[in-house]
Parts: sequence; C-alpha cells; structure tokens
Amino acid sequence: MERKALYAGSFDPITNGHLNIIERAARVYDTLTVAVVENPNKKSFFNIDERVNLAKEAVKHLPNVKIDKFSGLLADYVNEGGFATVIRGLRDSVDFQNEMQMANMNSRLYKGDTETVFLMGNPEYSYISSSLIKEVASLGGDVSGLVPDCVLDGITNKLQEESK
Ligand code: COA
Repeated sequence: MERKALYAGSFDPITNGHLNIIERAARVYDTLTVAVVENPNKKSFFNIDERVNLAKEAVKHLPNVKIDKFSGLLADYVNEGGFATVIRGLRDSVDFQNEMQMANMNSRLYKGDTETVFLMGNPEYSYISSSLIKEVASLGGDVSGLVPDCVLDGITNKLQEESK
C-alpha cells in the first residue's frame, strides 16, 4: 500500500527549516503532499498562489513531493485525501507543547487511522520562523542560506513592489 504523508502549514514563506523537514519526510514516505493553508482572516505577506508557487519551486528536485492548498479544517483535508500520516516538525519544547494540543484535537477529528509523526527540526534552522525571515529581510538583513533562493528573490521583489 502506498505510504502517503501530508505536511501542512502557512509557508509564508517556505524556509530552509521547512524544506529540511520535507526532504527527510520524502525519503521515508512514498508520496508527500505539502499543503499550503489559506486563511482568509489572516493577512499574509505572500498571497496563497505566491506561497504555492514558491513552495513548488523549492521542492522541484523532489519527485515524490507535490504541492497543494486548502482552507478550513486540516482534519477535513486529511479525511478527504486519505492521508495515513501527518508530518509535523519540532524545533523546540514550545513547538512540542503546541503540537501536542493540535495533534490530540486532530486525532479526534480524523475519520481513519491517521497518525501525527514528529520530525525533529535541524538545529541549524531551529531559531527561524517565516515571520523572523520577513522581519529581518524587510529591515535590510541578510537571510540568504535560511530560505531557498526562489524565496530570497520573491522577498526582494515583493519588498521592491511595496516600496513603489
Ligand atoms: N522551520 C522553520 N520554521 C518553522 C518550522 C521549521 N521546521 N516549523 C514551523 N516553523 C514556523 C513557521 O514558519 C511559522 O512561522 P510564522 O508563525 O512566523 O509564520 C511558525 O513556525 C508556525 O508554524 P506551524 O506550526 O507550521 O503553523 P502554520 O500556521 O504554518 O500551520 C497548520 C499550522 C496549518 C497545521 C494549522 O494552522 C492548521 O491545521 N490550520 C487549519 C485549521 C485547523 O484545522 N485548525 C485546527 C487545528 S487542531
């Protein structure tokens, strides 16, 4: 049976921390879907299509990874897609606390036997978040090496557009 896993997030934008989790999960599962969540109530830096396109570009070297988007409950998307596994990355104990809450809530909502599987984030990226990347970049700081090159270009272009 195909081992199908899901990794979901806002990915505003995708970072090398996310990419590290994706690359490792892609080695363990037959297919990995990376799903970008669309939350109409949350203002994002990159719109949903931009986030999806950046994620597609960032994973193009991984043949068993596909990018999708969804809105609403993660559990609904999981139930519809028949994912056996939901991957989550853990950077630190704060992530662990939050993730435990979400995993337990989601497990009530899954209709099948979906399991949440945690991968420890690479310590090299444990201090980064999408917000921190955006904050540093928007103030002129160098974030190269922390995000894929396509994201670096995307941030630069977006900041230039905004300053016009
Ligand atoms: N490397 C770098 N950064 C990481 C990271 C990693 N390995 N893992 C997480 N992060 C960062 C993210 O960039 C994000 O940063 P930001 O807050 O500055 O944008 C932050 O940590 C939180 O990431 P995450 O926990 O993955 O949250 P998210 O908002 O990206 O996605 C969902 C969380 C999509 C899984 C969750 O909101 C969800 O399920 N939404 C659907 C609605 C729903 O079902 N709600 C009920 C849930 S029980």
